Amino acid sequence: MRSILNVSSANKTFLSSGRKIQALCNVNLDITAGERVALIGASGSGKSTLIRSILGLEVLDKDGGLIKINHREIQADGHLSKNVRQIRNEVGVIFQQFNLVNQLDVMTNVLIGICPNKNIFQIISRRFSLEDKAKALDALEKVGLVDFAYQRSSTLSGGQQQRVAIARALIKGAKILLADEPVASLDPESSRKVMDTMVTLSEKLDLTYITSLHQIPIAKKYCDRTIALNQGQVVFDGPTKELSALMLAKLYGSNLGDLEMDEDFSCDRGDGYTEPKLTFVE
Ligand SMILES: Nc1ncnc2c1ncn2[C@@H]1O[C@H](COP(=O)(O)OP(=O)(O)O)[C@@H](O)[C@H]1O
Ligand SMILES: [Mg+2]
Repeated sequence: MRSILNVSSANKTFLSSGRKIQALCNVNLDITAGERVALIGASGSGKSTLIRSILGLEVLDKDGGLIKINHREIQADGHLSKNVRQIRNEVGVIFQQFNLVNQLDVMTNVLIGICPNKNIFQIISRRFSLEDKAKALDALEKVGLVDFAYQRSSTLSGGQQQRVAIARALIKGAKILLADEPVASLDPESSRKVMDTMVTLSEKLDLTYITSLHQIPIAKKYCDRTIALNQGQVVFDGPTKELSALMLAKLYGSNLGDLEMDEDFSCDRGDGYTEPKLTFVE
């Protein structure tokens, strides 16, 4: 199995009003090509910091932390690699707030994926080749939105906008999709469509998919592996099916209320005792 993302000894300390906050604490991860991984944890547990560090948008502490994507260093020992932009461009990124340019049509928002370092004026004034446009339409076809190509992005629903963001990641030819709470602001039906789209694509295109989530039912349905963070530390890393309400209650303690669970998430401890069903909604 080919390793596609490697994080070792990652520490990240922020200074806030003179106070040190350790957002990541000795995080070690090895992710294999094609895996679908949920990153869970209470608010403030370090999920976004980890994702941002993988993208080289946060620099780890200078104490030996190392992050590699496809065997290439994105950062090491508190320094970004000089190829950081190039490596980052090979990763598709999806955020909770979609990050589309509302005034532009869907097609142009997808085309932004192939010129990520340009500003909006450069993008508007750029003439895209027919080949680029064909690629954009192909990416939109893959997320089921080809009919919306010439519509302004602001006219689309939240779920559709998130699928445009996925198409923008695809047009780069990304082999890794990193998503930070991609469905946190969507209703359940739109969330399902967005997650279905990502999972179908990850299967078809052999993409590695890593997503932070606070909904346990979604992690259970779509991700084979779950990594749980608590106060910057990895407290669980294993098959999602092994997560149990009891274990989460132990791991999260008073922070458990930040995770959203479904009604059938009961826990059979294997000794005949079944934990009461839990329902937590943020
Ligand atoms: N730029 C920053 N400056 C100071 N503290 C930060 C910064 N970014 C994150 N933090 C702190 O780091 C911790 C982890 O935050 P974050 O990674 O955003 O968690 P999550 O995404 O799991 O909610 C939190 O205590 C947060 O307040
Ligand atoms: Mg976050």
